[in-house]
Amino acid sequence: MAPNVPLAPKLNGTCTQGEGEASPDKLAAVSGEIRGKHPRAEVRTFVLDFAAEGLAAKVAALGDSIRGLDVGVLVNSAGMSYPYARYFHEVDEELMRNLIRLNVEALTRVTHAVLPGMVERKRGAIVNIGSGASSILPSYPLYSVYAATKA
Ligand SMILES: NC(=O)c1ccc[n+]([C@@H]2O[C@H](COP(=O)([O-])OP(=O)(O)OC[C@H]3O[C@@H](n4cnc5c(N)ncnc54)[C@H](OP(=O)(O)O)[C@@H]3O)[C@@H](O)[C@H]2O)c1
Repeated sequence: MAPNVPLAPKLNGTCTQGEGEASPDKLAAVSGEIRGKHPRAEVRTFVLDFAAEGLAAKVAALGDSIRGLDVGVLVNSAGMSYPYARYFHEVDEELMRNLIRLNVEALTRVTHAVLPGMVERKRGAIVNIGSGASSILPSYPLYSVYAATKA
């Protein structure tokens, strides 16, 4: 799945969030695809590993980088689940931390960084990708932390 892609190419600026390792390549590929289909589109990318330390400062930098851009749509899609089903007591520290950072803290901080501009312009839309884990299968056995982050 592509990383969060907040804007359609028709809008004035495009800002894409993605994760650390492989993302620069993925972002470059997606940017190339958009430019190929819409040669006049301006595409900007911003690489951000939501699971890494220092999330608040990094999202603040993202907020600075979009200042002045007419961000029309923010799609909070970046997210993760368990690599496999686990009892709650088997969820290790790293998995628990990454789930909460990525699915909750990152989404919250990015929205907080992007929303003021939308409010000022009196337009914009935010799409948060949820999960049936929090509605269709509320208890989502063996994936309890994931279900909680999608509540
Ligand atoms: N698959 C399902 O059955 C399902 C069902 C319901 C809801 N969802 C939700 O749909 C969304 C997308 O999930 P998916 O299944 O399509 O998963 P996916 O293919 O693994 O995509 C996950 C996305 O999150 C990004 N991401 C992962 N770790 C990140 C990090 N540390 N920092 C920044 N970005 C990171 C990835 O970026 P890169 O592309 O750069 O790796 C990728 O774009 C998630 O919010 C998930 O909870 C999925």
